[in-house]
Amino acid sequence: MDNAATGNTETGENLLEQDSLTPEEIVRELDKYIIAQEDAKRAVAVALRNRWRRLKVEGSIKEEITPKNIILIGPTGVGKTEITRRLAKLVRAPFVKVEATKFTEVGYVGRDVESIIRDLVEHSVHIVKEEERKKVRKMAEEMAEERLLDVLLPSSARRDDLSTALLDSESENEGSEELKADDSMRRSREKLREMLRAGRLEERIVEIEIEKSVHTSMQILGPAGFSEIEGQIKDMFSNMIPRQKERRKVKVKEARKILSREAEEDLIDHDRVAQIALKRAEQTGIVFIDEIDKIAVPTHGKGPDVSREGVQRDLLPLIEGCTVGTKYGSVRTDHILFIASGAFHASKPSDLMPEFQGRFPIRVELKSLTSEHFAKILTEPENALTKQYIALLGTEGVKLSFSDDAIQELATLTAEVNSKAENIGARRLYTVMEKLLETISFDAHKMKGKDVVIDKQYVKEHLDGFVEDPDLARFIL
Ligand SMILES: Nc1ncnc2c1ncn2[C@@H]1O[C@H](COP(=O)(O)OP(=O)(O)OP(=O)(O)O)[C@@H](O)[C@H]1O
Ligand SMILES: [Mg+2]
Repeated sequence: MDNAATGNTETGENLLEQDSLTPEEIVRELDKYIIAQEDAKRAVAVALRNRWRRLKVEGSIKEEITPKNIILIGPTGVGKTEITRRLAKLVRAPFVKVEATKFTEVGYVGRDVESIIRDLVEHSVHIVKEEERKKVRKMAEEMAEERLLDVLLPSSARRDDLSTALLDSESENEGSEELKADDSMRRSREKLREMLRAGRLEERIVEIEIEKSVHTSMQILGPAGFSEIEGQIKDMFSNMIPRQKERRKVKVKEARKILSREAEEDLIDHDRVAQIALKRAEQTGIVFIDEIDKIAVPTHGKGPDVSREGVQRDLLPLIEGCTVGTKYGSVRTDHILFIASGAFHASKPSDLMPEFQGRFPIRVELKSLTSEHFAKILTEPENALTKQYIALLGTEGVKLSFSDDAIQELATLTAEVNSKAENIGARRLYTVMEKLLETISFDAHKMKGKDVVIDKQYVKEHLDGFVEDPDLARFIL
């Protein structure tokens, strides 16, 4: 592949390999965890594929193609956050999730919005570093082994002893003595190496010298909300203060890990990591802004809410494209994909500032979940609640299972409680299941070897009382 077509840069990185999943494949992956909500899945899948397509575009038009940002709209507990969470795991792109409510307008106490981009770059660096680490791992392991052998058989120290001994005796055949000593040293070292590789020295305690990170050895006292600046100050100093060494006694198996890690750190080209990471954050980064509805101001409200609109105004440049300085270098935000999400109970997407709305051209609505969905959510996803409880109780030797009619009953009850009390979507399943299995969870340790089948009868016996009484439903389920 030639450079122009693949988005390669002087860093020699191929950005394209990152997310080459087709929309179909992305949806299929999301299907493993999220029931229904096809529209939302399709929208995020297309958005992802489009960034891959853009990187393949040639010529100046490439710079003009900006991401089609998405707003996911839907009631609480229907999978908005979950879709994005799974998406992030799927693509190895730099990703951050933030809550819009955590931010405050510039000039007020709180986090400023540019920290979103700094976090994104931080994550990008983390990903790239892991990749670079992998490349040097073998070499680092070899270096660690040599250092371990040095510690186990301190050759330099022995050598000094030897040479003074030799000087004292004024031996005639000094040369051959030294050769012999060298030879035996090499043999012992190889012997030790064999033992080390065979895992026979794992538990032996050795004393190693390791670098102390400035972050742990330095403490800064400051007012609350200072932590972000504190991190920056520490980073600044970490480059100025010479690395402190610390001697520690550890087992060989731990020493190997620590020394490999240090060797990796030494072998990595940190400037290159920063360059690649910045590029990747710019070209493939994804920012997920949750609770976006909380910074929308309903027009029928009690006058303009300064701080909410302020946050929107601050976010706008990031979304429209600006340059943010980070400790690794500056980042353009033009091509970062933003996915926002909100329930929009008290406000509407149209309550957002017009410029803001304009930058989120794709609106996807997620639907309320019905009892049929709940039945599937309980059993189908790879992390389904029933699977979780079966695994948990399995550790106590209890074999838990659910009959089909029990699942149906649970789904119906959940939908009923959602309609009577507040509709909190699939989140309701958590309390329902917890209540259902309360006694078994408590007594499981006394039930070793038992098979417990949860059937419709069991569900009715344990939950009907709560569902029928609206007050109990409200407070307990
Ligand atoms: N469609 C779904 N399929 C499978 N599980 C779901 C689905 N919707 C919700 N869940 C489950 O419910 C939990 C809550 O969902 P999620 O966090 O996505 O809610 P949300 O839509 O972001 O709501 P909110 O507006 O309150 O933030 C998830 O962790 C997941 O376990
Ligand atoms: Mg959410």
